[in-house]
Amino acid sequence: MKRYNLNPKQHQTLTASETERLYAYVGGIRSGKTITGAHWALHNIIHQPEIKGGIFSNTVSQLNTATLSEFIGVLEAYGLFKGEHYVANKDPERYFGYKSKFEKHNGVWSFMNGAQVITFSIETMIRGIELGWCWGDEVQDAAIDSLNIVMGRMSGAKFPRTLWTMTPPMDNPDIDELIWGEKAIAHTIGTTYDNKANLPEGYIEQLEKTYDSLTFKREVLANRVTMSGLNWLYSFDRQKHVGARLPTTPACPFTLALILIIIHSRLSWRTGADTKTANNSFTTSMK
Ligand SMILES: Nc1ncnc2c1ncn2[C@@H]1O[C@H](COP(=O)(O)OP(=O)(O)O)[C@@H](O)[C@H]1O
Ligand SMILES: [Mg+2]
Repeated sequence: MKRYNLNPKQHQTLTASETERLYAYVGGIRSGKTITGAHWALHNIIHQPEIKGGIFSNTVSQLNTATLSEFIGVLEAYGLFKGEHYVANKDPERYFGYKSKFEKHNGVWSFMNGAQVITFSIETMIRGIELGWCWGDEVQDAAIDSLNIVMGRMSGAKFPRTLWTMTPPMDNPDIDELIWGEKAIAHTIGTTYDNKANLPEGYIEQLEKTYDSLTFKREVLANRVTMSGLNWLYSFDRQKHVGARLPTTPACPFTLALILIIIHSRLSWRTGADTKTANNSFTTSMK
C-alpha cells in the first residue's frame, strides 16, 4: 500500500489553510494537488464529523478518474476501506447506525464516525445543501459564477472552510485575478519539482523535453502564463483602449475588426495606398 510523506508545499498548504476561509494550492502538473486536497478532506472527516463536507471537481470525468480515485488511495493508506469504514451512495443508518444528514444519498460518502461528504462536479451541482467544508479540485477552468454558488453554500459551520487545488489558469481571467490580482486569496504555489521525490524517474525530464517554454512555465513551474503568454490581454477594456468613437457591431465585433485590419493591410500593400487615406475610406464606408 502507498504511503504519503507530504512535500514542503503540501505541508505548507495544509497548515496555512487552517486559519483561512478560502485557500488555494496552485501547483504544476503532478505537483501533488489532489493528494493535498485528499489529506485536507480527510483531516476534516476525522476532526469535524458533525459537519457536512463537500468534494468537487470541474467535470464528472475529472471527479471520477482523478480526484476520487486518488482520494480512495489516501483513505486506504490510512486504513479506511470502502464497505468497511465508509459507504458511498447509501443511507449510513443501516451500516453504521446513525441518522443521515442528507435526504438523498447520490454521491454521498458516509463514514463510520458519522462524517458525511457529498461528492459532485460543477456540471451536476445539487442545490439546497449547506456545507461546513469543501474541497474543489482542478478549479482553474471553472466558471467563477459556479464557484460562487458553491461558496454561497458554505454556512454549515461556525468557520466554514474551502480549499481549491488547481494549475494556473490558462484562459480564465476571473480565477487568474483571484490568485494574482489586487485582492488575491491566500495561497501556496508549488511546482512539479516540489513533488519530484514522489514521481517516476525521468518524468520531469520528459516534460522538459516535450513542453514548449510557455506551457512549461505554466504547467510545471506554476507561473502566471495565460493563453497567448500575454497577461495584458485580460485587461483589455473597450472604453479605455478603444473609446466611444468606433461603432460597436453587435455581431462578432472582434472578427469584423480583424477582417478589416487584414483587408486594409492587403489593400495598402497592393495599391501602395497611403495608410491615412485607406483608413479614411474605411471610416467613410462604415458610416
Ligand atoms: N506526499 C506524497 N507522497 C507520496 N506520493 C505522492 C505525494 N503527493 C503526491 N504523490 C503522488 O504523486 C503523483 C502526483 O500527485 P497528484 O496529487 O495526483 O498531483 P496533481 O493533482 O498535482 O496532478 C501521484 O502519483 C501521487 O500519488
Ligand atoms: Mg490532480
